Amino acid sequence: MSPFRADVLTLFPEMFPGPLGHSLAGKALGEGRWQLRVTDIRNFAIDRHRSVDDAPFGGGAGMVLRPDVVDRAVAAVADGRPLIYLTPRGEPFTQKMARELAAGDGMILLCGRYEGVDQRVIEAWRMREVSIGDYVLSGGEPAAMVVLDAVIRLLPGVVGKEESTAEESFSQGPLLEYPHYTRPALWQGRAVPQVLLSGNHAAIAAWRREQAEAITRTRRPDLWALYLRERQEAEKGAEAGARAEPHLEETQNPERNPEESQKTAETRRPLSPPESSREGSVIVKAVGTA
Ligand SMILES: C[S@@+](CC[C@H](N)C(=O)[O-])C[C@H]1O[C@@H](n2cnc3c(N)ncnc32)[C@H](O)[C@@H]1O
Repeated sequence: MSPFRADVLTLFPEMFPGPLGHSLAGKALGEGRWQLRVTDIRNFAIDRHRSVDDAPFGGGAGMVLRPDVVDRAVAAVADGRPLIYLTPRGEPFTQKMARELAAGDGMILLCGRYEGVDQRVIEAWRMREVSIGDYVLSGGEPAAMVVLDAVIRLLPGVVGKEESTAEESFSQGPLLEYPHYTRPALWQGRAVPQVLLSGNHAAIAAWRREQAEAITRTRRPDLWALYLRERQEAEKGAEAGARAEPHLEETQNPERNPEESQKTAETRRPLSPPESSREGSVIVKAVGTA
C-alpha cells in the first residue's frame, strides 16, 4: 500500500515539518508511513517582484493572496486528493473529519496569510474550508500542523497498541475521555479511585463510562446533546432492527437463501476501513518551482 501523501502550500515552507518531524509523526515520516511535500506559493508569482498579494477591492486593512498565484500553486499539486483551505470561516475540524481524511490516500492543505485568499480561487477549486477553532491565527501553518497531526496518528501503525486510539476522547461517539491514574497509588494524600485497583474489569469499564459521561455533560453541553441524540437514534435503530429481523434459519442457511445471506454478511462488516500497512519513500521537503 502506498503512503499517505500530504502536500502543504505555504509562504513559509521552512516552518515544516516543524513539530511533525518529532515523536510519533516524525517517526512515521521516517518509516515512510506518510510523505510530506511542502510547496512555496511564492515560487508561482508572476511578476519580477515575486508578489503574491494585493490590496482588497472595496478597501480595508491588510492584503489578500492573489487568485492567479494561488491557482498556479494548487494546479502544480492537485490530483484529486481532498483540497483544504485552512480558515477561521471554515467548518470546524473534528475527529470524524480526521478519520475520514486518514482513510484516504492523502490531502492538500492551503495555508493563508494576511487577510486570507481571494474568494474566487477557493470557489474555482471547490476547496473544503476548514477551521481549527473559533480564534484567529496569523497564518494557516499552525492550523495545517494541527490537522496533519490529528490525521497522521490515525494512520495504520503510527500509534502502537500501548497508546491505542480506540478509547480516547471522541473515539466512541462524541464523548470526552475518562481521567487517568498511574503509580504511586497514593500521592500527596490523594488516592487513586478504589475501583481501578479492584481488578474487576466490568466495574472499571462502567466507572470509566460514567466518568466520561459526567465530564462531557459538565464541560461540553454541545457534545452531550449530540451524544444523547445519537444514543436515542441508535436505540430506535436497534428496536426497528429487532422487529424486522427475519427468522434465523432464513439468514443463516446460505443454501436456503443465498442472496439474503450475502446481504447480511455485508451489513455486518465494520464501518471503519480495514487496517492496512502503508509504506513508501519520504519526501520531507520539495519546494515547488514555477
Ligand atoms: C489573519 S488570518 C485571516 C483571518 C481572516 N481575515 C478572517 O477574519 O477570517 C490569516 C490566515 O490564517 C489562517 N487561520 C487563522 N485562523 C485560523 C483558524 N482558526 N483555523 C484555520 N486557519 C486559520 C487562515 O489560513 C487565514 O487565511
